[in-house]
Amino acid sequence: MTDSLTIRRPDDWHLHFRDDAIMREVVPYTARQFARAIVMPNLTPPVTTTALGAAYRERIMAAVPQGVSFTPLMTCYLTDNTDADDLARGAAQGVFTAAKMYPANATTNSAAGVTNVEKLYPVLARMEAEDIVLCIHGEVTDHHVDVFDREKEFIDRHLRGIVAAFPGLRVVFEHITTSDAVDFVLESGPQVAATITPQHLHINRNAMLVGGIQPHNYCLPVAKRETHRLALRKAATSGSPKFFLGTDSAPHLRRDKESACGCAGIFGAPYALESYITVFDEEAALAQFEGFASLHGPAFYKLPVNQESVTLERAALAVPPMLQVTGEEIVPFHAGTTLGWRFVG
Ligand code: DOR
Ligand code: ZN
Repeated sequence: MTDSLTIRRPDDWHLHFRDDAIMREVVPYTARQFARAIVMPNLTPPVTTTALGAAYRERIMAAVPQGVSFTPLMTCYLTDNTDADDLARGAAQGVFTAAKMYPANATTNSAAGVTNVEKLYPVLARMEAEDIVLCIHGEVTDHHVDVFDREKEFIDRHLRGIVAAFPGLRVVFEHITTSDAVDFVLESGPQVAATITPQHLHINRNAMLVGGIQPHNYCLPVAKRETHRLALRKAATSGSPKFFLGTDSAPHLRRDKESACGCAGIFGAPYALESYITVFDEEAALAQFEGFASLHGPAFYKLPVNQESVTLERAALAVPPMLQVTGEEIVPFHAGTTLGWRFVG
């Protein structure tokens, strides 16, 4: 039995840091485990220009603890009015690593998102020409479409079209939750990849709805039925370079989660690697963990792999029921349970 695993330092290819005081307190959790992270731009107001991206990056850098090496990789929030020249400049200057497409009102702070995916095609053409990665929140938003079907519907209605129209555009299908998404990514060329969150590997929709409503297991896209979770576990642990780590860590205060209209998002950053490695261990796939966590993402993003390493060891890790940010309570993923792995450093 493997009791300790040392791998290249991983990166988190999708997360939310927020801003201001909360950001200053959540950045250290990620910087402790990861060398880099793709930072989502859904602030209020969103990060829609190179100037806003550069300023946000500075604020994040200022929150990295002394002596810790961590690089935030910024994304530009695409809207109906995105200035493709500014985006191209931001990418050329190294401010933006990718651009993020939210269908309008698909999730938290997405009201300024894209109201008509096809109207964005001129911007996507420019992104293809400039080799800028497109990160997609892949859910349709029509009221008549069941929330559990919104990812599949997005594939059929929009994603196939985007991938066909822009064969040179690198696309990350973010936080996939269905076997349909796994199949789509596998059927597509090497320019299409996906991130997978720890929560979608650990929980199905029962975790949200059985035994009373469980707001801390609510995120978007919502967890689906068990067959989908199993397909995601198979994909993540398969060794395919098309799948890589992206926590979608999305901090919301406990009081905002436990309310009549609870926020979507799971705060996965504090024990992210312990959460993921548990899945790889359960699937007897520890040999595939380094690829998923540390190699596939850099290869897709055309970035160097990290030179440092981290070690995880088999040991009981009691996840606290609550953490504090800005003097308020926040509930991490796996709160109050014991994981079988511990991040050593
Ligand atoms: O659960 C989620 N939370 N999904 C998202 O797409 C956004 C995120 C957030 O920003 O809270
Ligand atoms: Zn997200």
